[in-house]
Amino acid sequence: MTASSLRPAVFFDRDGTLIEDHGHLRSSSDVVFYEDLFPALQRLRSHFRFFIVTNQPGIGLGILRQEEVEEVNRYISENLRRAGIEITAVYCCPHRRDQGCQCIKPNPYFLLKAAQDFGLDLSRSFVVGDHPSDMTLAINTGARGVYLLTGHGKEHLEELLPDTFIAKNLTEAAEWILKNSIHSKGLETVRRAAEIIRKGGLVAFPTETVYGLGADAFNPLAIARIFEVKRRPYFDPLIVHVASYGGLKKLVTAIPSDAKKLVDRFWPGPLTVVLMKREEVPDLVTAGLSTVAIRMPDHPMALGLIEESECPIAAPSANPFGYLSPTTAEHVRDQLGDQIDDILDGGPCEVGLESTIISFSGRKPSLLRPGGVPLEEIEAIIGSVEVSPDEEGRPSAPGMLPRHYAPRTPIILARGEKNFNSNKSKRIGLLAFQEPKPSTKFHHIEILSKKGDFREAAANLFAAIRRLDSLNLDLILAETVPEVGLGRAINDRLRRASRLIYSPLQPKGDSTC
Ligand code: TXA
Ligand code: MG
Repeated sequence: MTASSLRPAVFFDRDGTLIEDHGHLRSSSDVVFYEDLFPALQRLRSHFRFFIVTNQPGIGLGILRQEEVEEVNRYISENLRRAGIEITAVYCCPHRRDQGCQCIKPNPYFLLKAAQDFGLDLSRSFVVGDHPSDMTLAINTGARGVYLLTGHGKEHLEELLPDTFIAKNLTEAAEWILKNSIHSKGLETVRRAAEIIRKGGLVAFPTETVYGLGADAFNPLAIARIFEVKRRPYFDPLIVHVASYGGLKKLVTAIPSDAKKLVDRFWPGPLTVVLMKREEVPDLVTAGLSTVAIRMPDHPMALGLIEESECPIAAPSANPFGYLSPTTAEHVRDQLGDQIDDILDGGPCEVGLESTIISFSGRKPSLLRPGGVPLEEIEAIIGSVEVSPDEEGRPSAPGMLPRHYAPRTPIILARGEKNFNSNKSKRIGLLAFQEPKPSTKFHHIEILSKKGDFREAAANLFAAIRRLDSLNLDLILAETVPEVGLGRAINDRLRRASRLIYSPLQPKGDSTC
């Protein structure tokens, strides 16, 4: 991971910081959230990953059971997630503060572990708490501390270093963090883009899957421009992007319990749910259907843009209709740059494949498009999901035409390149899943993942096809991958991008070039 791809985080103490400090908490029924907790963290979430670091000496003293603490932690994370606030991990120190443990003092073990496990930049991170030891934790890791006067904060004021920032409450803490974070420049860019959305403009923005081309979902004129710019047929509905569970509720008439389970588990993330829409959602967005497709993207800039725009954002992938989805700002600039009002650059997309779409409009949940969340993970939560196939046996949303994601160069698919007979006079490129054996058959080779990792392969897929497509080749031979997990979505995109399936059983030369 490069230094610039490391993300900043905020580490929150629990009692006296996120919830009222009532001593040793045994049960979630005793949890009282601070009133401003949700809005304060919603302001921050687009810029930081969140962690809880809680000191529960009651465990070490035998007053509290580990399971009781975990139940309370789960309850807090669950409530935050419902408000669209993801806690990446919770760390719990069971020792007394004066015992000198490895968890918090003198080694800030949890923070270093979090930094390593989740790719964090501690020098751009913050620790928020109501005890001086939280501030020490910050100093020992190069992060910055924010001291709260909630909880027991007032009792230890004289122990603080003179330049510690002291906040009355979480709202003040969040404001200070935003102002003092290196990200404030990014925030300005997002705010300017949000202004464009509010005025009816089009902004391309990064998500964890692919770049989207966004407009205010409630502004039919702006939505019409999306269709024009993409040359997208009006029968193909758009996905509406929200930044919280509350945002979802405002768009639909009901949320079936299975849909809720999936949303709780996978949002923010590469999952789209199709639910019965409220009347207010414009017909143009849904192509006249009684349903609307909705997702909460897992990208700080996307969430920031939705929040700052103060409206849900309808966004298809930011590519001309039928072509590959863009996974960098550069891809968007190349193809739509002069036709749209702004492009937010958030670097390359982590997932690289569009979201998985599950519809709840029928009797049973059904898969309309395989994508970033593997079907197996969905079925593990809600049981079997129907796959509604198109005429060629592929799952299909209205816009999933058989030939989609199509590069200009013809692509043929093969299980492996070994049996492929090439015509030496043609320029042929290979899209390999893993490192192939050395061969002179190919003019250029793109490897999706040397170690055969689906995630890495998915993240590289569209950019690799684009590179091959820019080389003026006569043909691209693409290897399919095992049809499990993310492999299903990778193969789906490959099939739609291709015209021909290469079968070594066909007479020699039949589908070679
Ligand atoms: O990862 C993604 O989902 C990306 C990012 C930008 O969020 N978006 C994306 O949008 O892939 P788009 O427009 O390229 O694909 C949306 C798909 C289309 O196949 C469309 O037909 C389907 O979602 N869809 C939208 N609304 C639907 C509805 N009400 N019922 C069934 N399918 C729907
Ligand atoms: Mg698309």
